[in-house]
Amino acid sequence: MEKTIAVIHGDGIGPEIVEQAIAVLRCTAQRFGHSFTFIPAEMGGCAIDKYGVNLPQQSLDTCLAADAVLLGAVGGPKWDGVEKTNRPEKALLKLRSALGLYANLRPAQLFGQLSDASPLRREIVANGIDFLVVRELIGGIYFGEHQTDEIDGEPVATDVMRYAQNEIERIARTAFEAARKRRHLVTSVDKSNVLDCSRLWRQTVQSIAAEYPDVELRHMLVDNCAMQIVRDPAQFDVILTENMFGDILSDEASMITGSIGIIPSASLGAGSRGMYEPIHGSAPDIAGQDKANPIGTILSAAMMLRYSFDLAKEADAIEAAVSKVLNAGYRTADIAGDHTTVIGCAEMGQRIAREI
Ligand code: IPM
Ligand code: MG
Repeated sequence: MEKTIAVIHGDGIGPEIVEQAIAVLRCTAQRFGHSFTFIPAEMGGCAIDKYGVNLPQQSLDTCLAADAVLLGAVGGPKWDGVEKTNRPEKALLKLRSALGLYANLRPAQLFGQLSDASPLRREIVANGIDFLVVRELIGGIYFGEHQTDEIDGEPVATDVMRYAQNEIERIARTAFEAARKRRHLVTSVDKSNVLDCSRLWRQTVQSIAAEYPDVELRHMLVDNCAMQIVRDPAQFDVILTENMFGDILSDEASMITGSIGIIPSASLGAGSRGMYEPIHGSAPDIAGQDKANPIGTILSAAMMLRYSFDLAKEADAIEAAVSKVLNAGYRTADIAGDHTTVIGCAEMGQRIAREI
C-alpha cells in the first residue's frame, strides 16, 4: 500500500515525539511491505515565527492532499501575546474544521503494566479502565462567535455555544458504531438541566439510538460524569459528548490511566482521511530535553493505520510492540513510578521500533 502522510511537528516536544512515531511507521512499512511518504507541514508557533501566520495556506494544502495527518503538538507561552485569531491553538481548530474532522476518538485504556501509575485506588483500577471518549470536534462553543465588548465602561466577553441537529446526529452515529465494535453501551454526556444545546443533544441522541437497538444508551450530566470517571470508570464503554465537555473529560480520563503522555487520538470526518495526535500538549517545560513520552504519538500512528488505512494487523503490531517494551520494564519519566529503567524519548521510540 502507498500512502502520503502530512506531518506537523509543531512546537515544544512536538518534533521529538513525532520523529519517534515516524521511525515506528517506517519500520512498520518495511516489515509489512508498504510505502509511506512523509511530507512536512508547518503549523502553530513555529509557523508564526517563520511566516507570521499560524496555518500557512501551503500547510493546509499539504494536509488536504494527504491520506492522513500526523500531528505532534502546537502552542506555548512564547506565543501568549499573539493576536487571538492567529494563536497556535487556533491553527489546530482551523485545520480540524477545514478537514471536516467532526469526530474525535480518545481511548482511555489502562495498560496493565502501568496500573501503579494510576492515581486511583488499586481496588478501583482492578475493575479495569477501558472506555472511549467520542468528542464532537468542530462545533459548539469552540466555533461560535467569540468577542469582548466594552459595555458601560466594563469589558464583557461572550462565547456562543451552538449546535445544529445534524451535527449532533452524525457524531451520535459515530459513537453508536464504535459501541457496536466494543461493549454495546453509549453514555451520552450533557448539561441538559441548564443548556438548550444539551437539551437538543439529549433529544437527538435519543432518536438516533432507535437505529441501534443492540446498543444501550444512558444519559449523564457532565458534572456527574466528571465524578463517575474517578469513582467507577469501569461503568463506561463509549462516552459521547460535545466539544468542550469532551476536551475536559478526556484529560481527566487520560490521567486515571497513568499518564496523559500515552493516550492517542484520531480525528475523523466523512471520508477516510483523518488526523492523528496525542491528546497532550506541547509541554514547553521539557521540550528538547529528551524527556517526553512518545507513546501517545506512536499509538496515534497505530490508530492512523487502523482507521484511515484499514491496516489492522499493522496497527496491532505497533500496539503489541509498545506493550512489549513496557513489559520489559522501560519507562519514560512521566510513567516511571518506582521503576529504575527510566529512558528518554528517543530510546523509547527506538525500542518500540526495534520490536516491530
Ligand atoms: C485538545 C487541546 C485543544 C482543544 C487545544 C490545544 C485547542 O486541548 O486537543 O484537547 O481544546 O481541542
Ligand atoms: Mg484538551
